[in-house]
Amino acid sequence: MNKSASLSLDEQKVELPVKEGTLGFDVVEVTSLSKLDVFTFDPGFMSTAACESKITYIDGEKGVLLHRGYLIKELCEHSNFLEVAFLLLYGELPTKAQAKQFNTDINLHTMVHEQLRYFFNGFRADAHPMAIMVGVVGALSAFYYDSLDITNPEHRRISAIRLIAKMPTIAAMCYKYSIGQPFMYPNNDLSYAENFLHMMFSTPCEAMKINPILIRAMDQIFIIHADHEQNASTSTVRMAGSTGANPFVCISAGIAALWGPAHGGANEAALNMLKQIGTVDRIPEFIARAKDPNDSFRLMGFGHRVYKNYDPRAKVMQQTCHEVLAVTGKGDSPLFKVAVELERIALNDEYFIQRKLYPNVDFYSGITLSALGIPSSMFTVVFALARTSGWISQWSEMVSVPNYKIARPRQLYTGATERDFVPMAERE
Ligand code: SDX
Repeated sequence: MNKSASLSLDEQKVELPVKEGTLGFDVVEVTSLSKLDVFTFDPGFMSTAACESKITYIDGEKGVLLHRGYLIKELCEHSNFLEVAFLLLYGELPTKAQAKQFNTDINLHTMVHEQLRYFFNGFRADAHPMAIMVGVVGALSAFYYDSLDITNPEHRRISAIRLIAKMPTIAAMCYKYSIGQPFMYPNNDLSYAENFLHMMFSTPCEAMKINPILIRAMDQIFIIHADHEQNASTSTVRMAGSTGANPFVCISAGIAALWGPAHGGANEAALNMLKQIGTVDRIPEFIARAKDPNDSFRLMGFGHRVYKNYDPRAKVMQQTCHEVLAVTGKGDSPLFKVAVELERIALNDEYFIQRKLYPNVDFYSGITLSALGIPSSMFTVVFALARTSGWISQWSEMVSVPNYKIARPRQLYTGATERDFVPMAERE
């Protein structure tokens, strides 16, 4: 039986269809609401579903994250990032043959056009790597005129492969440029995560020997950052894609949105916060500031629009953090001690309990990335690298459906009503 919601406004009444998903909340379809000459009003989209999707599902109350129905914990324990990227893109875990082919496809596209290297010279050495990423990834659209027809499934497929394959290479180039070392070419004999660490830390004089536990940790970090429903940056990618813009600039728009400290920039901000706190005895001072409505300070790495329980990714991240600190001999890291104690105090404080504020994916990722030798300015770059698999999957899901609509929200107008122009001579 089709469910519907009734809305009465003055003497008018309209029946709004209710659509049910396989999991989660039903949605009230309000498309016909404009017949009543009214719009819905929901700044920040607190209660608004902007699209239908089959890729990722989050149960915020239970702290559950599913990618195409698979628990994030299961994927972290049993899968690897390229398998998860395949799953996000195509909806199923790859067979052995499909995984082999996907790895080969990715490996054939890990290099960037040699002329792309010249883009870096336009940036100062102290340019934030995210500023470079926004520019260089968007510029990829100037190199692939052979595959910019988004109505062509093969163009969509090769663009997804190119973006997933080249993000580690471009990310590592950002780091090498910032420290004045030569760019490292990808080595396709290595796994995706190992190749990234190789391009980050090897030099032409010496290939970096990387502990397999650290390679696995890097791959886990990529998996837990891969996709997360319609977050701000994914919604940005979808909005840009709804105009028919090419996938490279849509991903560049997503990178720009991710940079904000309320979103993907929180991992860099969280580590800077832990450094600012410095020692366990200073934690109460910062907890007090986070609770003070007159102080804009927030505990970075805490809270989430959807999770009102522990972010399941933070649990994986905490475990990975332990492993990396142990292998790198930083187990007694004062920052980790501050993080664990800060989490313990916050989770027992009424302010955080009442607001259901728990650590999110960014709380432990900064310490882990730092222990891997990755500078804090590169943390959100790593996030963008991994999230490209989710962004391009969400973009592809949207543009693969014929006659999708351009995203064009309306507004509540509270500005001036019509008035006559005032000549300069009559203005005070
Ligand atoms: C990511 O959307 C996603 O899925 C994002 C992400 C992904 O994978 O794509 O999960 C990645 O962005 C994780 C979030 C990273 N951001 C941070 O860690 C920054 C710190 N967190 C906050 O700024 C905040 O929690 C948000 C932005 C994450 C969520 O903000 P909301 O949903 O708009 O909630 P809110 O700001 O309305 O806060 C509700 C209350 C407020 O207090 P009151 O007005 O009720 O008194 O909780 C308080 C806030 O002041 N609050 C915090 C807090 N977060 C919320 N107080 C102290 N410290 C915090 N971190």
